Formats: sequence, C-alpha cells, structure tokens
Amino acid sequence: MLYKLLLFAHVVSAVAATGPLFAIFPLLSRMKKAPEAEALSYVNALQGVLRAVAHGGHYVVPTGLMLIHFSGWSWGSSWLIVTYIAMTASLYFMASAFKPARNFAKSADFSKYTYIHMVKVATWKYTALMCFFIWLMTSKPNFW
Ligand code: HEM
Repeated sequence: MLYKLLLFAHVVSAVAATGPLFAIFPLLSRMKKAPEAEALSYVNALQGVLRAVAHGGHYVVPTGLMLIHFSGWSWGSSWLIVTYIAMTASLYFMASAFKPARNFAKSADFSKYTYIHMVKVATWKYTALMCFFIWLMTSKPNFW
C-alpha cells in the first residue's frame, strides 16, 4: 500500500515536471504575434511555467530514491545507474539551457525573436530528456 502511494506520488511529480512544458509552445506563438510592449509579461508567464516544472522535478528524485529502497530493485541495476547519471546531467542541463534565456530577457540587448528561439530549443531538448526518463522508467532496460 505504501509502495503504491509512493509510486503514485512519483508519477504525479513526473507529470508535474513534464506537463507544463506543453504550455510553453502556445505561449511562445502568442508572444511572437504580440506587440513588443507585451513581451515582458510573456517572459514572466514563461518563467512561471518553468518554476512549476522545477518544483515537480524536486519531488521526482526523493520519491524515486524511496521507491528503490522499498522495491526489489537493486541500487546498482543498470537502468538505475543510467538514471542517476542522466539525472545529474539533466540538472546541469536545466541550468545551462534555460538560464541563458532568463539572463537574456533581463539584458539590455533583449530581442523577442532570439528569446523565443532560445526558449523553444531548450524546451525541445528538455522534452526529449523527459521522454528518455519515461522510457527508462517504463522499460527498465538491462544495459549490461
Ligand atoms: C533520480 C531519479 C529517479 C529515480 C531514482 C527513479 C526511480 C524509480 C523507481 C525505483 C521506480 C519503480 C519501478 C517499479 O518498481 O516498477 C520508478 C517508476 C517510475 N518513474 Fe522514476 N525515478 C527517477 C526519475 C524519474 C523521472 C525524471 C521520471 C519522468 C520524467 C520518472 C517517471 C517514472 C514513472 C512514469 C514510473 C512508473 C513506471 C512503471 O510503473 O512502470 N522517474 N522510478
């Protein structure tokens, strides 16, 4: 029962860490058409979405570690080792992919179209990373 609750919490956090990403694309296309003066409010809305994604991500790791503890999975299973590596890489990725866009939004040479491009590329990369995690979690591949 506890295990099922933990798994539920883990999957809900994964949904929270992935779902809001899909709000980014319609926001970006509206931003493209919006007058220049409204750009900043779109930047703020996008930062809010990214915060929601980051909060979801904060619960994925502790619930995942607890699942390992309470499940029959060994800490050294190959799919879990790949998960630890990918998770560490994704923390660096989150910082390096979205931070430049955030700093650019605050900079004097802000340009709406460059900003939209930066956020779009980062979002696709992050979506691909989340798909990789979901594949790891659902197929639990035996890498070696
Ligand atoms: C340090 C990071 C993570 C660890 C240690 C971890 C660990 C685990 C473990 C042990 C399970 C239970 C497997 C089972 O007994 O069936 C699980 C299930 C799951 N995890 Fe993770 N996880 C992590 C990150 C993630 C991420 C980033 C996502 C998605 C974006 C995710 C999505 C899922 C899903 C959807 C399941 C259910 C799979 C199933 O029941 O077949 N996890 N995870």
